[in-house]
Amino acid sequence: MDAPTLPKTIAKYISPSILVYSKAEAQAKLHFVQEHYTNAHLHIDATDGRFVPSHFWCKAHDFGRLTIRNSFEAHLMTFHPEKRVGAWKRAGASRIIFHFEATPNPLRVIDTIRKARLEAGIALNIETNPDKLELILDKIDAILFMTIVPGWAGQPFHPEMIEKIREFHKKHPKQFIIVDGGVSKENAPSLISAGARQLVSTSAVYGKHFAHK
Ligand code: DX5
Ligand code: ZN
Repeated sequence: MDAPTLPKTIAKYISPSILVYSKAEAQAKLHFVQEHYTNAHLHIDATDGRFVPSHFWCKAHDFGRLTIRNSFEAHLMTFHPEKRVGAWKRAGASRIIFHFEATPNPLRVIDTIRKARLEAGIALNIETNPDKLELILDKIDAILFMTIVPGWAGQPFHPEMIEKIREFHKKHPKQFIIVDGGVSKENAPSLISAGARQLVSTSAVYGKHFAHK
């Protein structure tokens, strides 16, 4: 398969994304990842067709039936994220990431995740100001900056996010920063120097063979 090779200095930050249309595609990607990214923490994307319009094969229950050797997080691009926490815990997720824009009560969602003894992460769309999180930052384990519009892989990276991430990192140096979308071997060094500690990727991991438009 024509999968790209990333330099080791970048590959160690990569979290391969599992954004799939079918069980067969999930299995193929997991197989690939287990071979090429043995120790990576995976990122499973879930959509609801409402918070983002796309529909993928993304039910927690279905993932729970697959053999997933790597640790993984669930990125919930869905409304009512608190209702999905239990199912993803049963599927084996170690971290749940939900969208700040998807709930009127992020503290309640964090509380649900904490009670399930999982790590809590909050994702922000490009236009959302991270200052809005000021009062809840000490209650989360990770912040995920979207660097594309959520919903699909293979979109262009928004370069203006690099400065936003750098500024956030300066203010909150201890916060674990995840970047999701459009990551490439060209922009990864700037993202890492801006403070990103985990780079989620579909396109840079699997190449065109697997990327969706
Ligand atoms: C998109 C997902 C991403 C996606 C990234 O909504 O959240 O995780 O897989 O894909 P690329 O790396 O192609 O932008
Ligand atoms: Zn994602």
